[in-house]
This record gives sequence, C-alpha cells and structure tokens, in this order.
Amino acid sequence: MTVHTATCTAPVNIATLKYWGKRDKSLNLPTNSSISVTLSQDDLRTLTSAAASADFQEDQLWLNGALESLDSPRTKACLADLRALRAAVESADASLPKLSQYHLHIVSENNFPTAAGLASSAAGFAALVSAIASLYELPQDMSELSKIARKGSGSACRSLFGGFVAWEMGALEDGLDSKAVEVAPLAHWPTMKAAILVVSDDKKDTPSTTGMQSTVATSDLFQHRIHEVVPKRFEEMKKAIVNKDFETFGELTMKDSNSFHAVCLDSYPPIFYLNDTSKKIIKLVHKLNELEGHIIAAYTFDAGPNAVIYYDEANEAKVLGTLHKYFAQVQGWDKKDASALNGGVDIDGVD
Ligand code: DP6
Repeated sequence: MTVHTATCTAPVNIATLKYWGKRDKSLNLPTNSSISVTLSQDDLRTLTSAAASADFQEDQLWLNGALESLDSPRTKACLADLRALRAAVESADASLPKLSQYHLHIVSENNFPTAAGLASSAAGFAALVSAIASLYELPQDMSELSKIARKGSGSACRSLFGGFVAWEMGALEDGLDSKAVEVAPLAHWPTMKAAILVVSDDKKDTPSTTGMQSTVATSDLFQHRIHEVVPKRFEEMKKAIVNKDFETFGELTMKDSNSFHAVCLDSYPPIFYLNDTSKKIIKLVHKLNELEGHIIAAYTFDAGPNAVIYYDEANEAKVLGTLHKYFAQVQGWDKKDASALNGGVDIDGVD
C-alpha cells in the first residue's frame, strides 16, 4: 500500500483588534478587518499529519486521539478547495499521482485544552490546511492558503503567518480578497511577550459564531464599532507594530478588547464572556500602568474569561510578578522561571 504523508504545525493566534461579525456566514467573510499576534511554535499549537492513499476507504479525522466527524460544512469546504487546487496541478502534469481522488486520513493534536477559549479552531484549521497543502505540493503562498483556512474558521486565516498579522476583510462578495497578510515577522519585535492566564478551562458559554450572529442582528453599538472605530484603529495598530510602539499598541489592544465586550453586552439578549476574575485582572493592569506612569502591560480577552497579557520582555518581572502576587491561583506560570515572578508591585484596592 502506498501512502503519501505530510506533517505541519500551526500556532494559536490572539487578536489584538478583534474579528466579531460576519457579512457572509458560509464563506466566513467578516464585517471588519482584524489584527493578531501569532504565538511562537513552542507555545500553543496544533500538530497535524495528513495522509492520502488509493487504499483508504473514506476521509477520516482523529483529533487528540478520538475519531471526529468530517461532516461539518466548514471542514468540507476546506477539503474541497484543496482538492480542486491539487486536481488543477494534476491535470497540468499527468505524471503526478492522483492524490486529489484519494481519501484522506488526518491526525491532529493540540498541546493545550481544546475549546477552552484558547482559539483552538484557529490553530486547528490552519494546521489542517497547511498539512494538506504540503501533502498536495501546492504553492506555499500563505495569503492564498489563508482564504481556504478562513472558510474553516475566520480567525484561522491569521495562523498561517507567524508574528504580527492582519486579516484584510476585503470587499468582494466571493471572498477572494478576504485574506491574511503579514504586518511584521516575529523577529521584528522579538521582545514582545504574551502571558496566558487561564481563568477557567470550561467550554465557552456562547460559541463565537452564534455570539457574533446575535451581535450583528441586535446591537446598535456594533454599527458604530465597525464603521467608525475599527477602520481607524486598524491603521493605527499596524503603524504601532511597525514602529514597535508598545504604548500605542497596548492602549489600542485594551480599548479594542473593551469595545468587543461592549458590543457583546449590547447584544440582545446580552452575551457575557468576562467573569469577576477577568474584571480584577483588567483593574490590576490599569493600576500597574498608572503606577508606572505609562503602559507596560496590555490585556485582551476573546470569547471567554481567560486573559492574554502582552508586555515587553524588559518588564517581565514586574508584570508577571504583579499578576502572580494577586492571582497566584491563576495558572500560566508553569513554564516561567520562578525568578521572573519576584518583581511584583504592591497595588492597593485589588482584592
Ligand atoms: C473573539 O474565528 O472562532 O476570538 O469564524 O465563526 O469560526 P468563526 O469564529 P472564530 O471567532 C474568533 C472571535 C474572537 C476574535 C478574533 O479572534 O479575532
């Protein structure tokens, strides 16, 4: 039996300018452009192997060791696009094996809890598309592949790139211009760090897709966000990244997280993702920045209560030390050198 295989990894990305709202649900076309930072391969990532063989009887997917259904329209859309691209390559070169006609076996593994609000679908679809594109020997144009990953999960398009990434919403109805592009590679700003504070590893209360559909349909504030707030912020944030301006980057990141949670609250019925611990983290970060006289830490929260804190490596001891002092029960320190936690600052009024 001949089996063709390829393996790829894709890391999680955390949005600093949030994607929230679709203008086309089946193509995952967003109502606004977004920006994210892709974590390094050593942190949270999905590892996916894809195999094709004339002897396989059906397409199959194993996620973290368990057989999963491949029936979702999102996965089917990704596989169909990749097969079509491979079929075009095969018709141009008759000597190539007809992989586009073989069934696929896909094995995928996360090194973090799935669906704990840690953007697992983003890394998952990005790794799936990369692994199959590599198996099919398709051109490695990440923006092109990002359009396929986007159909799996909107935020997945950004995980095709490392470092600082923009997802340009595009204007076309067919989505051909809705793709991820690199703003800057990780090496451009290597001192930028992200700490993930796992406040809760429960499954999300309201899944992102359902939540954003409800926001689009019911929130008035959302119209202001997509037309007035985000377009300006998109340009400002790209500039802050290019200039390595943490102060501006941090302020915009925190404001955008707050704006996103505000439109969730303005949805009807309201959607709550933050809990009391999340709110205490927000308060602590603001107090720390106030005490320092400038922004040294910036929080952001996705569709769940877990916090991601961005900071510059130079301030690691102060930022992580302070968070640890007040949230010792929060996980996320395990990989850190304990000495990094001894630089905490005393802050009044955080209980
Ligand atoms: C709050 O990409 O999970 O994390 O396209 O429906 O799969 P679907 O949604 P998804 O939504 C992510 C929402 C967010 C913000 C972001 O990552 O930009």
